[in-house]
Amino acid sequence: MTEVRISLVGYGVVGHGVVEVLERKRQLMGEIGLDLTLVSVTDHTGTYLAPDGVVAKDILDHRTLEGVANSDMAAREVFGSIDCDLVVEVTPTNIVHGQPGLGHMVDALSMGKHVVTSNKGPLVVDYRRLKDLARKNDVALKFEATVGGTMPLISLIERTLVGNTILGIRGIFNGTCNYILTRMAEEKYPYNHALTEAQELGYAEADPSYDVEGVDTAGKVAILANSIFDMDVKYGDVEVTGITGITPESLILAHKRGYAVKLIGEVPALTVKPMLVPLGSPLAVGSTLNAAAIYTDLSGTITVTGLGAGRIETASAILSDIVSIYRGNHVDAQRS
Ligand SMILES: NC(=O)c1ccc[n+]([C@@H]2O[C@H](COP(=O)([O-])OP(=O)(O)OC[C@H]3O[C@@H](n4cnc5c(N)ncnc54)[C@H](OP(=O)(O)O)[C@@H]3O)[C@@H](O)[C@H]2O)c1
Repeated sequence: MTEVRISLVGYGVVGHGVVEVLERKRQLMGEIGLDLTLVSVTDHTGTYLAPDGVVAKDILDHRTLEGVANSDMAAREVFGSIDCDLVVEVTPTNIVHGQPGLGHMVDALSMGKHVVTSNKGPLVVDYRRLKDLARKNDVALKFEATVGGTMPLISLIERTLVGNTILGIRGIFNGTCNYILTRMAEEKYPYNHALTEAQELGYAEADPSYDVEGVDTAGKVAILANSIFDMDVKYGDVEVTGITGITPESLILAHKRGYAVKLIGEVPALTVKPMLVPLGSPLAVGSTLNAAAIYTDLSGTITVTGLGAGRIETASAILSDIVSIYRGNHVDAQRS
């Protein structure tokens, strides 16, 4: 049995999902030879240290660690002072400066710890530096959950499609936009009406600009460009048009001609824009679903679809990354 001692940084929606999934899958992990022990959880308010393993029910009912934390150490001090092998980094995304996640990842990798993350910001801002640090310290940096949530995309390319040259990827990478466009097309709602409905259902933030203006999708395009296509791309290199200018009339017209309008991110073209997708094609998924078409030289076009967000779904992608590190089938995503 391989013991993996895990430090979790960030205890919000995804952090809670990670604690729950590690608990729920303890037996299954044991059956494949992994003893995944969560030894610390850190948020803004402090750290909960449990050298023998966090008991999930002791913390899961608490929204933050306030009143539960037994140490005031910040993440960096935690990595330097406790015995841990792997850091799960799930703090908020900032694609301008990457912090606080970028600092956490640099610290963890420099101290020889594997990093698994759902946080796009650091990978958009400083992918090369993080990947180099991982190589130098002989550890893994895994980030399946940053693009398409639970939809297997990076691992599919890394492992199953190894040997193929990836010619391009085109996809729907933002569930909020897809929900709004789906409702506008189905119900003939104007944009603002569909947005309000998405906000009421919790699919869109109070400030939706990050999603609807295409910023989130552009971050994912940059991550795919850097990791799969060995490019050196920042957010500013991606040409971005969001969905705020789309009218129900244009969606109705597209539908009459056999098309749906979707916000599509394309790599290596480095574009994010509303595009026509033939109705009935595998990319024409509705509601909050994500989808990605992978164009290859040997396997033709492979399309995957799945939920791009969600507490448990995102934690599932994180668990899968953790397992891939220890099952010895970690392959560098970068192809050149
Ligand atoms: N939610 C999803 O479905 C989803 C899907 C895919 C990817 N992601 C990405 O995953 C990450 C986490 O998402 P989330 O929805 O869980 O966000 P969230 O609910 O806002 O949680 C973020 C957590 O990070 C903590 N935090 C902030 N600054 C910190 C610091 N300096 N040190 C330690 N902890 C700190 C926050 O603490 P306080 O609450 O005390 O500020 C909070 O516990 C984001 O980067 C997001 O883009 C999310």
